[in-house]
Amino acid sequence: MFVSDIKLNGFRNYGEQKVKLSPNINLLVGKNGQGKTNLLESIYFAAIGKSPKTNKESELVNWEKQRASFCVNLQKKSGAKQIEVIFSRQTKKVVRVNNVNLLKIADLLGNLNVVFFSPDELKLVKDAPQDRRKFLDTDISQLSKNYFYNLTKYNKILDERNKLLKTAQSKEILEQTLPIWDTHLADTGSKIILERIKFLNKLKNIAKQAHEYLTNKKEDLQIEYSGIVGQNEEEIKQQILKNLVACREKDEKLGFTNVGPHRDDIKLVVNNVDIRSFGSQGQQRTVALSMKLAELEIFNEEIGEYPVLLLDDVLSELDQDRQQRLLNYCKKLQTIITATQYDPFMFQDANIIKINNGQISE
Ligand SMILES: Nc1ncnc2c1ncn2[C@@H]1O[C@H](COP(=O)(O)OP(=O)(O)OP(=O)(O)O)[C@@H](O)[C@H]1O
Ligand SMILES: [Mg+2]
Repeated sequence: MFVSDIKLNGFRNYGEQKVKLSPNINLLVGKNGQGKTNLLESIYFAAIGKSPKTNKESELVNWEKQRASFCVNLQKKSGAKQIEVIFSRQTKKVVRVNNVNLLKIADLLGNLNVVFFSPDELKLVKDAPQDRRKFLDTDISQLSKNYFYNLTKYNKILDERNKLLKTAQSKEILEQTLPIWDTHLADTGSKIILERIKFLNKLKNIAKQAHEYLTNKKEDLQIEYSGIVGQNEEEIKQQILKNLVACREKDEKLGFTNVGPHRDDIKLVVNNVDIRSFGSQGQQRTVALSMKLAELEIFNEEIGEYPVLLLDDVLSELDQDRQQRLLNYCKKLQTIITATQYDPFMFQDANIIKINNGQISE
């Protein structure tokens, strides 16, 4: 799938603007603070129904205006689609697909698929386990509504169990009630963990290949689910129950649940070294990128076409060899890249779009 054009009006620092995109590589180039990321943000919003940067939608409306809109036209195997979003300072936003107003944002998902990569994505490798769980959860949720359902259910059960741990009047009440919550937690938790392991098993092989490619075989990437594991749902369930019992004293003391899918992680190892602790910035970025490229391939397998790849400020952090390899990889799908400068030789086949103070020239 690819975005053929975008019309913006009052979105961030844009007035009325139209941008045409090529189905292959597009380079948005301009100085700092001109509107490159803002343009990517509109495409991301059309896909996911929210901004990657902020939850405050009023920030998306141009400071001097009362309303903002963008309209994204895309081409898919199944035909053309149009996604339009209108923000107003006074009323709720309106989202339209092919001129039909959507009642809930969940209906927007699946129309346009994007994979977004920005310097912020480095936290996927560097930061706390919760960022890696979020990566798993958002990806698997996009591919499986059931997973999303189980995750929501699990979080509710977890909340209840934690509430009980904090507020139970006596140890006796705890001993009587906890096992019931443990069973619920293990029932739903095992489904989540099994799906995550299955997803990672697919992802790890593709990411390993992508990483080998990006690093010209210099680095070997190993990805493993870290936490409760098992061959099937029942095995995982029993393991969760066992761990819950083993941790009960700790849970009671701390007032929250210390085991379960909400505590698991992904282990990332490059050339036998934990990349989170010992990788250089560039190595960590390449690992995050390999995982994103693997995401592209999984989407392609599951939905039958490649999503649109949005790369914000990524090139400047990679050495020239890795840059060139990344660009070659991207040839098979629509890619929209931002940069402050570029090597014309490297981008000789790309559609170059210049952005200056919210004004676009091709
Ligand atoms: N609601 C808004 N109304 C008007 N201008 C805005 C609004 N929100 C952000 N801006 C302006 O948009 C500009 C930022 O644009 P953007 O983040 O797209 O820059 P960029 O071209 O990606 O720059 P960089 O190369 O530094 O990443 C800022 O100068 C900011 O002041
Ligand atoms: Mg930017």
